[in-house]
Amino acid sequence: MSAAGTPWSDPVAADRPAVDADERIDPSTPHPARMYDYWIGGKQNFAADREVGDRMAEAMPGLPLLARANRAFLGRAVRYAAGQGVKQFLDLGAGLPASGNTHEIAQAAHPDAAVVYVDNDPLVSVHGRALLADQARTRVFEADLRDPKAVLTHPDVVSLIDFEQPVAVLLAAVLHFVTDDSDPAGIVAAFTEGLAPGSHLVISHATSDLLPVETDTLRPIYRSSATGALRTHAEISSFFEGFDLVSPGVVQLPLWRPDTEPPEDLSQYWMYAGVGLKQEKP
Ligand SMILES: C[S@@+](CC[C@H](N)C(=O)[O-])C[C@H]1O[C@@H](n2cnc3c(N)ncnc32)[C@H](O)[C@@H]1O
Repeated sequence: MSAAGTPWSDPVAADRPAVDADERIDPSTPHPARMYDYWIGGKQNFAADREVGDRMAEAMPGLPLLARANRAFLGRAVRYAAGQGVKQFLDLGAGLPASGNTHEIAQAAHPDAAVVYVDNDPLVSVHGRALLADQARTRVFEADLRDPKAVLTHPDVVSLIDFEQPVAVLLAAVLHFVTDDSDPAGIVAAFTEGLAPGSHLVISHATSDLLPVETDTLRPIYRSSATGALRTHAEISSFFEGFDLVSPGVVQLPLWRPDTEPPEDLSQYWMYAGVGLKQEKP
């Protein structure tokens, strides 16, 4: 791809991504990873992402707040799992590197923690590889989580993750991009059924239960870049089959083991979050 006309060549786009992207990265098509990065205050996004991100935030002003609350939940959940002794993390739909990355939190608790990031956005692996070049215990690769076998047999997973030991499988703000025809429950089961006792499953997911505005406003905008499925509390909870839910269960993002007093008005937080623990078989 020529740099002409891309955000890399645009002197106005001072916050453009700082690494070369490969040919499959299309800066003119908005992408969920980069819009999310924009909302959480990251720098790995293009004009098209910001434009659609702004249109979505106009239709639903709480979106950036929601994105940041999700990122904060992910951080708390990783810290929790690490605190329970988990030293291996499989972060599916990991997103672009931003503040509070899984490996930073996990390796602060356990310097030898292994972290594997997976995302289907090529930009994520390009940035990830640049960021992690000198990291022996952290890997990032591009794959579609709808193909669990391809992920679980990838050399980075095989070399870094020991499935005889507890693993935390992270599915933060990604399962709502998996439509029912792709069998999200089957995908979660494929990633979790062989896990050792003491493993954790971390999920956050947008819900249709709490949506503050008509989804019809948002759908035409978001469909320009991604498809998805909002789900109910019962549907999201059912992904934890085979796990015991850690207290307080599946709750709105800010209510999951908050570090500080959660906001009184939770109306903008239309995502549920939960963490499950895999117990010993009776
Ligand atoms: C909203 S971001 C969440 C990032 C991160 N998990 C977090 O919670 O901060 C969703 C990410 O999922 C990725 N994604 C969406 N569908 C995917 C799929 N089928 N396989 C792998 N990654 C996917 C997107 O590229 C994006 O980076």
